[in-house]
Amino acid sequence: MRARRTCLAVPGSNPRFLEKAQTLAADEVFLDLEDSVAPAVKEEARANVVAALREGDWTGKTVAVRVNDATTPWSYRDVIEVVEAAGDRLHCVMLPKVSDPSHVVWLDTLLGQVERAAGLPVGRIGIEAQIEDATGLVNAERIAAASPRLETLVFGPADFMASIGMRTLVVGEQPPGYEEGDAYHYVLMRILTAARAHGLQAIDGPYLQIRDVEGFRRAARRAAALGFDGKWVLHPSQIEAGNEVFSPSQDDYDHAELILEAYEYYTTVERRGAAMLGDEMIDEASRKMALVVAAKGRAAGLTRTKRFTPPG
Ligand code: GLV
Ligand code: MG
Repeated sequence: MRARRTCLAVPGSNPRFLEKAQTLAADEVFLDLEDSVAPAVKEEARANVVAALREGDWTGKTVAVRVNDATTPWSYRDVIEVVEAAGDRLHCVMLPKVSDPSHVVWLDTLLGQVERAAGLPVGRIGIEAQIEDATGLVNAERIAAASPRLETLVFGPADFMASIGMRTLVVGEQPPGYEEGDAYHYVLMRILTAARAHGLQAIDGPYLQIRDVEGFRRAARRAAALGFDGKWVLHPSQIEAGNEVFSPSQDDYDHAELILEAYEYYTTVERRGAAMLGDEMIDEASRKMALVVAAKGRAAGLTRTKRFTPPG
């Protein structure tokens, strides 16, 4: 699994941002040809994106391009031009506004054609599918199963809120009148469950008030607590906060590694399936939970500060 704690959106029409993005600490960068690019400059943005992929230094980052959605006149050329010219520099294509599994199947097929023609390994480029409307959410499970190339389901809150008629203009915040509830819970949980049922990552979308880093943290914590792997970021100030929120704390990471080590000892040396670790009872389910936290900590580059000492 690639690290995706923070996924930085970079408008393909802005060469300065395409340059700057290479220096930032986001786990993933996606070069955008969709909604951050005006219709009048879609073609020019494609050329910028190809140049940035070819000439830029993206070492250590997951690199994706967001093409236009499958119902637009731009999407097929987006895929063909970018992948023909720079498919070897690309990890994933992000497909927005996926409302039906056929959109993913279309992209999978087209990617295969271009990969073959360009002499690229067939099937290497992954797909990230954005769920951004009511139909997409209803079809989330089928979308998640639509192609072996799929790596993530991505929530698109702005388009989604518009699609269902939610009464707010502030993406990621609770709509006025619903402050006691969480208007996003069902959507996030449904996307997360569909993703996990098919072994995919789940990524939360953007928080648009870029000066409100506390607000970003709140929204990010909510998604991280449920189990989401990461969130979009739009500004350098969100990157630091996002990387922190989506990494386990040192204490939780140490605790998870301790459970794994202790459980290994108890099941093999003492041949017991349930045992005490301090005041805590651990068993096979504890091991599974610990694996999740340990994997996130390792991916975030944390190192252990505690070791298990067998009793006696
Ligand atoms: C992202 O694409 C969104 O619509 O929130
Ligand atoms: Mg969108």
